[in-house]
Amino acid sequence: MNKPKRYTITSALPYTNGPIHIGHLAGVYVPADIYARFLRLTGNDVVFIGGSDEHGVPITIKAKNEGVSPQDVVDKYHAIIKKSFEEFGISFDNYSRTSAKIHHKTASEFFKTLYDKGEFIEETSEQLYDAQANQFLADRFVTGTCPKCGNEEAYGDQCEKCGTSLNAMDLINPKSALTGNVPTLKETKHWYLPLDRHEDFLKEWILEGHKKDWKPNVYGQVKSWIDDGLRPRAVTRDLDWGIPVPVKGGEGKVLYVWFDAPIGYISSTKEWAARVGKDWEPYWKSEDTKLVHFIGKDNIVFHCIIFPVMLKREGSYILPENVPANEFLNLEGNKLSTSKNWAVWLPDYLLEFPNQQDVLRYALTANAPETKDNDFTWKDFQARNNNELVAIFGNFINRVVVLTNKYYSGVVPKPNDLSSVDEETLAAVKAYPDVIASSIERYRFREAQQELMNLARLGNKYLADEEPWKVFKVDEERTKTIMYVALQIASSLATLSEPFLPFTSAKLKGILGLRHNEEQSDVVISSNKQIATTHKDESSNDALGWNDISTKNIILPSGHQIGDAELLFSKIEDDTIQFQLDKLEASKKANASTSSAQPPQPQKEEITFDDFTKLDIRVGTILEAEKMPKAKKLLVLKVDTGIDVRTIVSGIAESFTPKEIIGKRVTVLVNLAPRELRGVVSQGMILMTENAEGKLVFVNPDDANVPNGLHIS
Ligand code: MF3
Ligand code: ZN
Repeated sequence: MNKPKRYTITSALPYTNGPIHIGHLAGVYVPADIYARFLRLTGNDVVFIGGSDEHGVPITIKAKNEGVSPQDVVDKYHAIIKKSFEEFGISFDNYSRTSAKIHHKTASEFFKTLYDKGEFIEETSEQLYDAQANQFLADRFVTGTCPKCGNEEAYGDQCEKCGTSLNAMDLINPKSALTGNVPTLKETKHWYLPLDRHEDFLKEWILEGHKKDWKPNVYGQVKSWIDDGLRPRAVTRDLDWGIPVPVKGGEGKVLYVWFDAPIGYISSTKEWAARVGKDWEPYWKSEDTKLVHFIGKDNIVFHCIIFPVMLKREGSYILPENVPANEFLNLEGNKLSTSKNWAVWLPDYLLEFPNQQDVLRYALTANAPETKDNDFTWKDFQARNNNELVAIFGNFINRVVVLTNKYYSGVVPKPNDLSSVDEETLAAVKAYPDVIASSIERYRFREAQQELMNLARLGNKYLADEEPWKVFKVDEERTKTIMYVALQIASSLATLSEPFLPFTSAKLKGILGLRHNEEQSDVVISSNKQIATTHKDESSNDALGWNDISTKNIILPSGHQIGDAELLFSKIEDDTIQFQLDKLEASKKANASTSSAQPPQPQKEEITFDDFTKLDIRVGTILEAEKMPKAKKLLVLKVDTGIDVRTIVSGIAESFTPKEIIGKRVTVLVNLAPRELRGVVSQGMILMTENAEGKLVFVNPDDANVPNGLHIS
C-alpha cells in the first residue's frame, strides 16, 4: 500500500441552468466520490472540491427565456443542485459557487497577475454581432456549421459532435441564437491567452510526460489538438453577466466563463480551508500534492490545455497529475439532453427511490462510460439491483446475520480449528483491499466495483459450500467456525463497500455493530451545515480502516455482539420500472411536437394576479360558422358563451371549414373590447394555438399534437 499523500480532487463545476442528471453523475461525481472516499479510508489527506459554475451564456439565455435575472436562475439551481448532491452522498469537503465573493476576488487577481506578467495579447478585431439584440455573439449565443465535421448545430465555442473547440468566427453560416439573424461584424477589444506560445510546454508535459498514465481517450484528444496547432484564445467577453475584467479598457466586459470557472476549484479550496482552519496553499502549490480533475470528455481541452497553461504561467501552482475524463452516458439509446428533458434527474430519483441512492450509484458505476460511451437503461438498473445487489450482496449478509442471531443470539462465536477451505477463504478476503485499491488507483471504478461484488460472491459460495444450516444439526462446533469465517467476510464487505455504496456500508456497519467512522466527520457542504462523510478515525478500535482488512488477523472478534437482521436492498418491481419508461415516453411525445417547430418564445413580462382576474374567459359552443366574404382567413361565428349568443370573427379559415367546427366546445375571452372587422363587430376571442405543422388548433392540452410552450392567442 502506498504512503499517505495529500490529494486535491476536483469535480467539474456544474452549470446552474438545470438540475443534475445521471450523465453528470456517471461521468464525474460518482467516480470522483469513490476516489475521494477511498483515499480518505486509506489514510490520505484529501480535499474533495465541488461548486456551481454560475457564469456563462446558457445561464443568461435561460434567464431571458424565463423572464428573470441571471442571479435568480443561479440561486434557484445552485440550491437544487447542492441539496441533491448532499442527499445523494457526494462527499464534497466544500461545495462553493462562482458568484461567491471569494471567487470573484480570486479569479480577478489571477487575471491581473497574468496581465501584469504580459501573458495576454490585447487585440481589437471584428467579431460577430447581433444588431437587433444589441449584443456580440460568442459561445452559445451563436450556432453554425462546424468547419471540422460539418455538424450544422455547432456552437460558437465548441462542436458537441466532434468535440472540437471553436472560436465563434470559425463557424460557417453563423446564426444568432437570440434572434435567428445572420450576424454582422463589429469591432471590439479582447484579451487572448496565446496558447500557441505554450505548445512546447504542453508537448513535453503531456505528450511525453503522461503518455503512459493518462487514459487513452484523454491523451488522444489532447494530442490531436496539439497536432492541429493551438491558437490564441480570447479570455474576455462582451457580456454583463460574469466577473468584470479588472484592467483598464475592460469596462463593460467580463472574464470568459471558462477562464473563471476552473479557478473556482481554487476559490472553493480557500473557502474550505478558512472554515476548517487549514492553509489552502499546500493543496494547490506543494509539489507533493496530487491534483486530479474529474470531468466529462467535453471538458478535456479546458482542463488539459487552457487551465494548465494558466496555472503554469501564473507560476506558483502545481499541474494536474491526472485528468481521468469519462466518455458520455446515453439514456435508453439516446443522447442525454436537458432541453429535450431526456434525462433521469437526480432530484426526481431521490423522491421516487427514497433511500435507494446506492442502487443508482451501483448501476452507474457498473455501466460507467470509462472507455467508451455507454447506455443507461431502466431494465439494466432493475437487473443490477435484483440480480446483483439483492441476490448476491444482500442475500449473503442477510443469511449471515439471521443465522448468527438464530444460533448465537447475535454473538460472534469462537472458532475451532480452521479447515483448509477456511484458511484459503480468509486469505482470499485479505487480498481484496489491494486488488480493489489497484483498480481505483488506475481510475477503473467499474472493475473495482466488480471486485467488491466478487468478495460478496465469495461469501455466498462459502456459505453454499459449507451449508452451516445443515451442519448445525450434526456438528455445532464446526458451525461456529463456519459462521465465524462468514462474519469476517461480512465485516470486510462493510468496510470495502464504503466508497461505492456509502449508505449500505453505514447500514451494514450498524447491523454488525461496527463503529462507523462517519461519527468523526468534519465535513460540510458549504453554509456550515454538517453532512456525514467518512474520515478515518485511527483512534477507534472497531472503526475498520481499509488496510485493516488485510493486516488485522481478526476483523470481527469472538464475543462481539451484532444487531438484528435488516434488509440492505429490496427488489424493484416491473411497475416501478414501467413508470419510469412511461415518463420518458411522455418526454419523447412532447419533443416530437416541439423539435420541428421554432424554439418556444420567451415568457412575457410578469403580470399581477389582478391583471389576470381582468380576463374573463368562458367555455362556449360554436353554434354557427360561415366564411367572411372576400377574406381568406376569417370565419364569422355565432358562439353560445353561456351569457349570451354573440358574434365572433376568428382568423381560422385556413385551418378549418365552417362545417367541421359547428358544435365544437371552445374557450372564449369574452371581455375583449369589441372590434370591427370588415364591417362585422367581433365580440370576443376564441383561444387557439398552433400544432407542429403550423396548423391552428383549439386549445386542448391533452391533444398530443399541441407542444408545450406554444402561445395561446
Ligand atoms: N460547467 C462546466 C460544464 O458543465 C464545467 C466547468 S468545470 C470548471 O461543462 F473547471 F470550469 F469548473
Ligand atoms: Zn464538429
